[in-house]
Amino acid sequence: MQDSPSQPTGSPGLNHVAIIMDGNGRWARQRGLPRIEGHRRGVSNVREVLKIARELNIKYVTLFAFSVENWQRPAEEISSLMGLLEFFLERNTRELVKNKVRLRVIGRPDDLPEGVQKKLHQALEATKDFQDYVLQVALNYGSRTEVLDAVRAYSEDVSQGKVDPAHLDWPLFSRYLYTADIPDPDLLIRTSGETRISNFLLMQCAYSEMFFSPVFWPDFDRKHFLDAVESFHQRQRRFGKTGEQIKAAPASEPAINR
Ligand code: IPE
Ligand code: IPE
Ligand code: MG
Repeated sequence: MQDSPSQPTGSPGLNHVAIIMDGNGRWARQRGLPRIEGHRRGVSNVREVLKIARELNIKYVTLFAFSVENWQRPAEEISSLMGLLEFFLERNTRELVKNKVRLRVIGRPDDLPEGVQKKLHQALEATKDFQDYVLQVALNYGSRTEVLDAVRAYSEDVSQGKVDPAHLDWPLFSRYLYTADIPDPDLLIRTSGETRISNFLLMQCAYSEMFFSPVFWPDFDRKHFLDAVESFHQRQRRFGKTGEQIKAAPASEPAINR
Protein backbone atom coordinates (compact mmCIF):
# COMPACT_ATOMS: atom_id res chain seq x y z
CA MET A 1 0.00 0.00 0.00
CA GLN A 2 1.09 3.57 -0.52
CA ASP A 3 -0.26 7.04 -0.03
CA SER A 4 -3.37 7.93 -1.98
CA PRO A 5 -2.56 9.43 -5.38
CA SER A 6 -3.69 13.08 -5.43
CA GLN A 7 -5.71 12.42 -8.60
CA PRO A 8 -7.11 8.91 -8.21
CA THR A 9 -6.98 7.09 -11.54
CA GLY A 10 -9.90 4.86 -10.56
CA SER A 11 -11.37 1.85 -12.23
CA PRO A 12 -14.99 2.69 -13.10
CA GLY A 13 -17.57 0.24 -11.79
CA LEU A 14 -14.92 -1.66 -9.86
CA ASN A 15 -15.54 -0.78 -6.26
CA HIS A 16 -15.05 -4.14 -4.57
CA VAL A 17 -12.67 -6.99 -5.45
CA ALA A 18 -12.84 -10.29 -3.55
CA ILE A 19 -9.98 -12.77 -3.83
CA ILE A 20 -9.71 -16.49 -3.10
CA MET A 21 -5.95 -16.65 -2.54
CA ASP A 22 -5.30 -20.26 -3.52
CA GLY A 23 -2.28 -22.34 -4.50
CA ASN A 24 0.26 -21.62 -1.75
CA GLY A 25 0.80 -25.32 -1.04
CA ARG A 26 1.31 -26.27 -4.68
CA TRP A 27 3.62 -23.28 -5.20
CA ALA A 28 5.85 -24.64 -2.43
CA ARG A 29 5.65 -28.29 -3.48
CA GLN A 30 6.68 -27.35 -7.01
CA ARG A 31 9.89 -25.97 -5.53
CA GLY A 32 10.47 -28.86 -3.14
CA LEU A 33 9.66 -26.60 -0.17
CA PRO A 34 7.33 -27.25 2.79
CA ARG A 35 3.75 -25.96 2.34
CA ILE A 36 4.26 -23.32 5.03
CA GLU A 37 6.88 -21.66 2.84
CA GLY A 38 4.15 -21.16 0.26
CA HIS A 39 1.92 -19.58 2.90
CA ARG A 40 4.77 -17.27 3.90
CA ARG A 41 5.19 -16.12 0.32
CA GLY A 42 1.43 -15.83 0.01
CA VAL A 43 1.26 -13.50 2.99
CA SER A 44 3.95 -11.23 1.60
CA ASN A 45 2.07 -11.04 -1.69
CA VAL A 46 -0.94 -9.55 0.10
CA ARG A 47 0.87 -6.25 0.63
CA GLU A 48 1.69 -5.96 -3.06
CA VAL A 49 -1.84 -6.68 -4.20
CA LEU A 50 -3.32 -4.21 -1.71
CA LYS A 51 -0.97 -1.57 -3.05
CA ILE A 52 -2.19 -2.07 -6.62
CA ALA A 53 -5.82 -2.02 -5.48
CA ARG A 54 -5.20 1.33 -3.83
CA GLU A 55 -3.54 2.70 -6.95
CA LEU A 56 -6.66 1.72 -8.88
CA ASN A 57 -8.75 3.39 -6.18
CA ILE A 58 -10.65 0.19 -5.44
CA LYS A 59 -12.31 0.97 -2.14
CA TYR A 60 -13.12 -2.53 -0.90
CA VAL A 61 -10.86 -5.57 -1.00
CA THR A 62 -11.96 -8.86 0.55
CA LEU A 63 -9.41 -11.65 1.07
CA PHE A 64 -10.26 -15.26 1.86
CA ALA A 65 -7.60 -16.15 4.42
CA PHE A 66 -8.97 -19.16 6.30
CA SER A 67 -12.16 -21.13 5.76
CA VAL A 68 -14.25 -23.07 8.28
CA GLU A 69 -13.27 -26.14 6.26
CA ASN A 70 -9.54 -25.40 6.63
CA TRP A 71 -9.66 -26.67 10.26
CA GLN A 72 -9.56 -30.14 8.68
CA ARG A 73 -5.93 -29.59 7.64
CA PRO A 74 -3.02 -31.10 9.61
CA ALA A 75 -2.62 -29.46 13.04
CA GLU A 76 0.90 -28.37 12.19
CA GLU A 77 -0.23 -26.47 9.09
CA ILE A 78 -3.09 -24.81 11.00
CA SER A 79 -0.78 -23.63 13.73
CA SER A 80 1.71 -22.25 11.19
CA LEU A 81 -1.12 -20.42 9.42
CA MET A 82 -2.30 -18.89 12.69
CA GLY A 83 1.26 -17.81 13.46
CA LEU A 84 1.51 -16.14 10.05
CA LEU A 85 -1.79 -14.40 10.58
CA GLU A 86 -0.59 -12.97 13.86
CA PHE A 87 2.63 -11.88 12.18
CA PHE A 88 0.71 -10.23 9.33
CA LEU A 89 -1.50 -8.26 11.71
CA GLU A 90 1.41 -7.16 13.85
CA ARG A 91 3.48 -6.11 10.85
CA ASN A 92 0.75 -4.38 8.90
CA THR A 93 -1.41 -2.51 11.37
CA ARG A 94 0.82 0.56 11.21
CA GLU A 95 0.69 0.56 7.43
CA LEU A 96 -3.09 0.21 7.41
CA VAL A 97 -3.27 3.25 9.69
CA LYS A 98 -0.83 5.19 7.52
CA ASN A 99 -2.92 4.49 4.43
CA LYS A 100 -6.25 5.07 6.18
CA VAL A 101 -7.50 1.55 5.56
CA ARG A 102 -10.22 0.21 7.81
CA LEU A 103 -9.81 -3.46 8.67
CA ARG A 104 -12.92 -5.61 8.88
CA VAL A 105 -13.31 -9.29 9.66
CA ILE A 106 -15.98 -11.66 8.38
CA GLY A 107 -16.42 -15.16 9.75
CA ARG A 108 -16.33 -16.48 13.30
CA PRO A 109 -13.19 -14.84 14.74
CA ASP A 110 -14.12 -15.91 18.29
CA ASP A 111 -12.95 -19.46 17.50
CA LEU A 112 -9.45 -18.31 16.50
CA PRO A 113 -6.48 -18.70 18.90
CA GLU A 114 -6.30 -15.98 21.56
CA GLY A 115 -3.06 -14.53 20.25
CA VAL A 116 -4.64 -13.94 16.84
CA GLN A 117 -7.78 -12.49 18.40
CA LYS A 118 -5.71 -10.05 20.42
CA LYS A 119 -3.79 -8.73 17.39
CA LEU A 120 -7.00 -8.64 15.43
CA HIS A 121 -8.71 -6.60 18.09
CA GLN A 122 -5.81 -4.14 18.18
CA ALA A 123 -5.84 -3.73 14.39
CA LEU A 124 -9.62 -3.33 14.26
CA GLU A 125 -9.50 -0.70 17.01
CA ALA A 126 -6.62 1.21 15.41
CA THR A 127 -8.37 1.44 12.02
CA LYS A 128 -12.04 1.65 12.94
CA ASP A 129 -12.54 5.32 12.04
CA PHE A 130 -11.07 5.22 8.54
CA GLN A 131 -13.40 5.50 5.58
CA ASP A 132 -11.22 5.79 2.48
CA TYR A 133 -10.46 2.10 2.01
CA VAL A 134 -11.69 -1.14 3.55
CA LEU A 135 -9.74 -4.37 3.84
CA GLN A 136 -12.15 -7.16 4.70
CA VAL A 137 -10.51 -10.40 5.77
CA ALA A 138 -12.49 -13.65 5.79
CA LEU A 139 -11.24 -15.62 8.78
CA ASN A 140 -12.82 -18.86 9.90
CA TYR A 141 -15.35 -17.97 7.23
CA GLY A 142 -17.87 -20.15 5.42
CA SER A 143 -20.82 -18.90 3.43
CA ARG A 144 -23.21 -21.51 4.78
CA THR A 145 -22.10 -20.75 8.33
CA GLU A 146 -22.74 -17.08 7.60
CA VAL A 147 -26.29 -17.85 6.42
CA LEU A 148 -26.93 -19.92 9.55
CA ASP A 149 -25.62 -17.13 11.78
CA ALA A 150 -27.83 -14.65 9.92
CA VAL A 151 -30.94 -16.83 10.20
CA ARG A 152 -30.25 -17.31 13.89
CA ALA A 153 -29.93 -13.55 14.49
CA TYR A 154 -32.96 -12.81 12.35
CA SER A 155 -35.10 -15.43 14.15
CA GLU A 156 -34.06 -13.92 17.46
CA ASP A 157 -35.28 -10.52 16.28
CA VAL A 158 -38.54 -12.05 15.06
CA SER A 159 -39.16 -13.73 18.41
CA GLN A 160 -38.51 -10.45 20.20
CA GLY A 161 -40.97 -8.70 17.89
CA LYS A 162 -38.29 -6.41 16.40
CA VAL A 163 -39.00 -7.45 12.80
CA ASP A 164 -42.07 -8.77 11.00
CA PRO A 165 -41.48 -11.80 8.72
CA ALA A 166 -44.25 -10.49 6.45
CA HIS A 167 -41.85 -7.72 5.45
CA LEU A 168 -38.79 -9.85 4.85
CA ASP A 169 -36.90 -8.89 1.72
CA TRP A 170 -33.27 -9.13 0.61
CA PRO A 171 -32.15 -5.65 1.77
CA LEU A 172 -33.41 -6.48 5.24
CA PHE A 173 -32.03 -10.01 5.37
CA SER A 174 -28.63 -8.96 4.02
CA ARG A 175 -28.24 -6.74 7.07
CA TYR A 176 -27.87 -9.94 9.11
CA LEU A 177 -24.94 -11.19 7.00
CA TYR A 178 -21.36 -10.57 8.16
CA THR A 179 -20.99 -8.18 5.22
CA ALA A 180 -23.80 -5.79 6.26
CA ASP A 181 -23.06 -2.27 4.95
CA ILE A 182 -20.43 -3.50 2.49
CA PRO A 183 -21.43 -3.51 -1.20
CA ASP A 184 -21.31 -6.85 -3.02
CA PRO A 185 -18.08 -7.72 -4.86
CA ASP A 186 -17.97 -6.54 -8.46
CA LEU A 187 -15.15 -8.92 -9.27
CA LEU A 188 -14.22 -12.26 -7.70
CA ILE A 189 -10.72 -13.55 -8.46
CA ARG A 190 -9.56 -17.08 -7.69
CA THR A 191 -5.96 -18.06 -8.26
CA SER A 192 -4.36 -21.50 -8.76
CA GLY A 193 -6.51 -22.79 -11.62
CA GLU A 194 -9.36 -24.13 -9.50
CA THR A 195 -12.70 -23.04 -10.90
CA ARG A 196 -14.86 -23.33 -7.81
CA ILE A 197 -16.13 -20.97 -5.13
CA SER A 198 -15.36 -23.15 -2.08
CA ASN A 199 -18.12 -21.75 0.14
CA PHE A 200 -17.00 -18.12 -0.25
CA LEU A 201 -19.49 -15.21 -0.33
CA LEU A 202 -22.17 -17.30 -2.07
CA MET A 203 -24.90 -14.73 -1.42
CA GLN A 204 -22.79 -11.66 -2.14
CA CYS A 205 -21.36 -12.95 -5.42
CA ALA A 206 -24.79 -13.52 -6.98
CA TYR A 207 -23.89 -11.00 -9.70
CA SER A 208 -20.12 -10.71 -9.38
CA GLU A 209 -17.92 -11.16 -12.41
CA MET A 210 -15.61 -14.17 -11.99
CA PHE A 211 -11.97 -14.35 -12.97
CA PHE A 212 -10.09 -17.63 -12.61
CA SER A 213 -6.33 -17.35 -12.94
CA PRO A 214 -4.06 -20.39 -13.40
CA VAL A 215 -1.31 -18.64 -11.40
CA PHE A 216 -0.55 -19.77 -7.83
CA TRP A 217 -1.23 -17.04 -5.27
CA PRO A 218 2.44 -16.30 -4.34
CA ASP A 219 3.13 -15.57 -8.03
CA PHE A 220 -0.01 -13.51 -8.63
CA ASP A 221 1.62 -10.15 -9.27
CA ARG A 222 0.79 -6.71 -10.65
CA LYS A 223 0.49 -7.94 -14.23
CA HIS A 224 -1.92 -10.72 -13.31
CA PHE A 225 -4.03 -8.40 -11.20
CA LEU A 226 -4.19 -5.84 -14.01
CA ASP A 227 -5.20 -8.64 -16.43
CA ALA A 228 -8.12 -9.49 -14.13
CA VAL A 229 -9.16 -5.82 -13.97
CA GLU A 230 -8.85 -5.52 -17.74
CA SER A 231 -11.02 -8.61 -18.19
CA PHE A 232 -13.62 -7.08 -15.86
CA HIS A 233 -13.76 -3.94 -17.98
CA GLN A 234 -14.36 -5.99 -21.15
CA ARG A 235 -17.57 -7.40 -19.75
CA GLN A 236 -21.12 -6.20 -19.95
CA ARG A 237 -22.97 -6.67 -16.67
CA ARG A 238 -26.60 -7.19 -17.53
CA PHE A 239 -28.29 -8.13 -14.24
CA GLY A 240 -31.04 -9.96 -16.13
CA LYS A 241 -31.67 -7.23 -18.69
CA THR A 242 -30.82 -7.30 -22.40
CA GLY A 243 -27.59 -5.97 -23.86
CA GLU A 244 -29.55 -3.25 -25.69
CA GLN A 245 -31.15 -2.05 -22.46
CA ILE A 246 -27.74 -1.83 -20.80
CA LYS A 247 -26.30 0.20 -23.68
CA ALA A 248 -29.17 2.65 -23.30
CA ALA A 249 -28.80 2.92 -19.50
CA PRO A 250 -26.14 0.97 -17.59
CA ALA A 251 -27.73 -1.05 -14.78
CA SER A 252 -26.15 -1.37 -11.37
CA GLU A 253 -27.92 -4.08 -9.45
CA PRO A 254 -30.80 -6.52 -9.80
CA ALA A 255 -33.93 -4.63 -8.76
CA ILE A 256 -35.99 -7.81 -8.45
CA ASN A 257 -34.72 -8.60 -4.93
CA ARG A 258 -35.24 -5.12 -3.62
C1 IPE B 1 -4.46 -21.20 0.01
O1 IPE B 1 -3.45 -22.07 -0.44
C2 IPE B 1 -4.26 -20.80 1.45
C3 IPE B 1 -5.25 -21.37 2.38
C4 IPE B 1 -6.24 -22.16 2.06
C5 IPE B 1 -5.09 -21.02 3.78
P1 IPE B 1 -3.57 -23.63 -0.22
O2 IPE B 1 -2.91 -24.01 1.05
O3 IPE B 1 -4.97 -24.09 -0.35
O4 IPE B 1 -2.72 -24.16 -1.45
P2 IPE B 1 -3.02 -25.46 -2.32
O5 IPE B 1 -4.40 -25.32 -2.87
O6 IPE B 1 -2.87 -26.64 -1.42
O7 IPE B 1 -1.98 -25.42 -3.39
C1 IPE C 1 -10.20 -21.79 -0.20
O1 IPE C 1 -9.12 -22.55 -0.60
C2 IPE C 1 -9.93 -21.16 1.13
C3 IPE C 1 -8.92 -20.10 1.14
C4 IPE C 1 -8.28 -19.63 0.11
C5 IPE C 1 -8.65 -19.54 2.45
P1 IPE C 1 -9.03 -24.12 -0.32
O2 IPE C 1 -7.75 -24.57 -0.88
O3 IPE C 1 -9.29 -24.40 1.10
O4 IPE C 1 -10.27 -24.66 -1.19
P2 IPE C 1 -10.54 -26.14 -1.74
O5 IPE C 1 -10.45 -27.07 -0.58
O6 IPE C 1 -9.51 -26.45 -2.76
O7 IPE C 1 -11.91 -26.07 -2.35
MG1 MG D 1 -6.08 -24.72 -1.91
